[in-house]
Amino acid sequence: MRQFWHSLTQEPLSPNSPVLLTGWTANAKAMRIAAFTDLTGPDGVSIIDRPTPEPGRREALVDIEACAINRHDLWILEGDSAMVDTDDLPFVSGLDVAGVVRDVGEDVANVDPGDRVVLCPNETCGTCRYCREGPENLCENFSLYHGGLAEIACVRADRLVALPDDVGTVEAAALPTAYMTAYHMLRRVEAGPTDLVFVPGATGGVGVAGVQLAAVLGAHSVGTSSSRAKLDRLESLGLDHAIVGTDPDQLRTAIADIGPVDSVLNHLGGAYTQLGLDVLRRNGRMAVCGRTAGGTSEIDIPDLFLGHKRLIGSTMGTQGDLETLVDLVDDGAFTPEIDRTYPLSEAGAAFTAMQDRESVGKLLITP
Ligand SMILES: NC(=O)c1ccc[n+]([C@@H]2O[C@H](COP(=O)([O-])OP(=O)(O)OC[C@H]3O[C@@H](n4cnc5c(N)ncnc54)[C@H](OP(=O)(O)O)[C@@H]3O)[C@@H](O)[C@H]2O)c1
Ligand SMILES: [Zn+2]
Repeated sequence: MRQFWHSLTQEPLSPNSPVLLTGWTANAKAMRIAAFTDLTGPDGVSIIDRPTPEPGRREALVDIEACAINRHDLWILEGDSAMVDTDDLPFVSGLDVAGVVRDVGEDVANVDPGDRVVLCPNETCGTCRYCREGPENLCENFSLYHGGLAEIACVRADRLVALPDDVGTVEAAALPTAYMTAYHMLRRVEAGPTDLVFVPGATGGVGVAGVQLAAVLGAHSVGTSSSRAKLDRLESLGLDHAIVGTDPDQLRTAIADIGPVDSVLNHLGGAYTQLGLDVLRRNGRMAVCGRTAGGTSEIDIPDLFLGHKRLIGSTMGTQGDLETLVDLVDDGAFTPEIDRTYPLSEAGAAFTAMQDRESVGKLLITP
């Protein structure tokens, strides 16, 4: 599994890959990484040194100014991900890198040292039919970059998106996984002006992004959370209807009072899949990207076909989506919601905050 998730253009792992801690040389300059050394939760994060990598021909080194964490990283850290097991330790997670280019390989022409950039963490083969015809996130060999919980990242240069002067690296680091995924889901459900979009679990990374981006599209939103205090913070970010609760029966009744929804952004799975179908209008669309509340869902098949409802799987987004989001931030259409930043040495505390469901929006590490 590990080779699949770390394949860089299907080449074997480069000796400079952030996940490898071998290859130390006596005079190599060290950088710090927040490595997962145990898959037992936040206590398994250790700050260790490793040599600064050299970029390969098509790679760039980025001095990381910020890296967002996602529930994906937490699952790895909790031992709840098929992609990393104890044989892979120490493991450097972190997908959402933004910073300043420090050095580039000899074949790199799209970025120069000193450029401010954000990474699209998609890793695609470049040769399959989906890479040729698009969209790229359908790539048959799709995987994700990991290595952002560090001071320096060694990345594919063609996955770097230049940042305009007015877009900071901290806000840019919030964008790739959460906002790119939510934006792609909104595109998949064809959300448009005046639509009503249901976002169960509206207070996390993908949830807040879904609410903010629905508002950017002119759509209205219904969001849920177990916490009234967290939902209160969302009303200033564009949430139109806030519902406190986690019981699907209670939520179904409360949403029915607002009206049938045109689309659902479902990152929770579990019982929220049938709930989403229940509140959808005829011919409505639900995109599903996650399984926080359960990896299996029981659904009512006659309701699906008699209601002409559409159930859509969706993973990440395209680099074009990320470029659009950077432009929208530059235009002032929205500001990524960042709950808190942590220094690299406190990466474990950031994962504890995610586990404890304390935050609204994104948690970032700023090495
Ligand atoms: N397929 C993809 O490409 C892709 C990309 C990004 C994310 N995802 C998936 O999307 C999901 C969200 O990711 P994220 O990084 O946004 O996570 P996150 O920030 O941790 O999400 C927090 C949200 O989830 C809710 N939540 C947490 N545990 C819950 C539970 N047991 N039952 C119901 N709600 C719960 C929280 O509700 P409260 O407000 O009540 O605490 C909060 O609204 C994950 O499953 C992730 O793997 C998939
Ligand atoms: Zn491909």
